Amino acid sequence: MKKISVLLLVVAAVTVFTYCSSSKKAVKVIPKTTYEANVAPIIAATCAPCHFPDKGGRKKPLDSYKSVTAQLDEVLRRIQLNPTDRGFMPDRKPNRMADSNIAVIKKWQADGLLER
Ligand code: HEC
Repeated sequence: MKKISVLLLVVAAVTVFTYCSSSKKAVKVIPKTTYEANVAPIIAATCAPCHFPDKGGRKKPLDSYKSVTAQLDEVLRRIQLNPTDRGFMPDRKPNRMADSNIAVIKKWQADGLLER
């Protein structure tokens, strides 16, 4: 179900983007990756409830720009481990988060950790 809604969202985004870029603008704007638009939804989908105090999580919070940027190196390290490695996150899940999502978090870092 989740995959389908993500897919629909992507289709909608592509449609909107296609329409927008068919205007006479000469310069294509490549949007930067931001915490609010790109990173927060991924973390919320993969790292809840354990790291979300308002969802009953008791681990270190990853529910805000501040908390995620403060632990970013450790977040990136852990999500790229093999699921059988000690310290792998998301804990207790059989698979890594999608490579495309890991790439989003890396790009966010490369783009300068924009909040919004
Ligand atoms: C099922 C619950 C669960 C989920 C889901 C989960 N974690 Fe954790 N996380 C833990 C536990 C338990 C620890 C403490 C044990 C350890 O350090 O390995 C922890 C520790 C961490 C730490 C070290 C800091 C700390 O809290 O002590 C980081 C960073 C972390 N997790 C990142 C993530 C990220 C990023 C995700 C999502 C991709 C995620 N976790 C998903 C349970 C979870």
